[in-house]
Amino acid sequence: MGIDFHDRKNRNSYTTRHADDAWIKTIDRLVPIERISLALDIGCGGGIYSQALANLDIKEVIGIDYSEAMLEGARENCREYSNLTFRKGDALNTRLKSKQCGFVLERALIHHITDLDACFQEAHRILEPNGYFIVQDRTPEDCFLPGSENHIRGYFFDLFPRLKEKERMRRHSSQKVTKSLKDAGFHSIEVLSFWETRSKYPAKEPLLEDIRKRTGRSILHELNDDELALLIKHIDHSLPSNSPITEKDRWTIWKAVK
Ligand SMILES: C[S@@+](CC[C@H](N)C(=O)[O-])C[C@H]1O[C@@H](n2cnc3c(N)ncnc32)[C@H](O)[C@@H]1O
Repeated sequence: MGIDFHDRKNRNSYTTRHADDAWIKTIDRLVPIERISLALDIGCGGGIYSQALANLDIKEVIGIDYSEAMLEGARENCREYSNLTFRKGDALNTRLKSKQCGFVLERALIHHITDLDACFQEAHRILEPNGYFIVQDRTPEDCFLPGSENHIRGYFFDLFPRLKEKERMRRHSSQKVTKSLKDAGFHSIEVLSFWETRSKYPAKEPLLEDIRKRTGRSILHELNDDELALLIKHIDHSLPSNSPITEKDRWTIWKAVK
């Protein structure tokens, strides 16, 4: 199953949040933003992170996605931005000119990509010499940290071991990503672990409602409605009642230079 990125009814699945301040600071520290005139956000979804880049005052930001439905949600979500546009394109073959941008971001994209080498070769092709490439995704180690009131996704695997198998199949190891970056011609590769706040909830119920709607969590589309109800019950029992919840995910960020 999985989420169908091309179904119009999912067009707002990745529009409902804003990038965490810690994410913006991390990108600002890793990439010399003041020197970038064109940035590409490939696999941009609803444009949450394209928007964050546009807010960093990069002259021009283009969000690229292979799904018309996602692009529709992104355009609606970012309609007030004059330095941000969206275009249809595949991460493996963007059809963009070679050496045309100073920064490429691929966030939460590569677990949907089987041919990592082709994906990174394409990013290398469109970057200017000395251009910056940021890949952000969750490795199996990031995903399988135990559930807690901060790491809600950990609970998903407690109840449904088959989700763990599915997750293990699609997540790339850090070693594999690093090798693929080197093979594509990137240098100065840095790898860091990063906890990103996903959402803050005033209490448990709004979190459970978000899970009920499967908002922005593609792995939950693997569960049928009864299984989802069971998961919600499990999380409800595991969390203290009525305290505010800050949900975080642990990610790995790979920075590389062309
Ligand atoms: C999990 S969402 C992440 C969206 C956004 N980057 C974020 O972090 O909120 C993955 C996105 O990648 C897009 N995608 C998946 N495979 C792609 C490909 N081969 N080329 C371009 N986009 C792709 C999907 O349509 C979806 O919008």
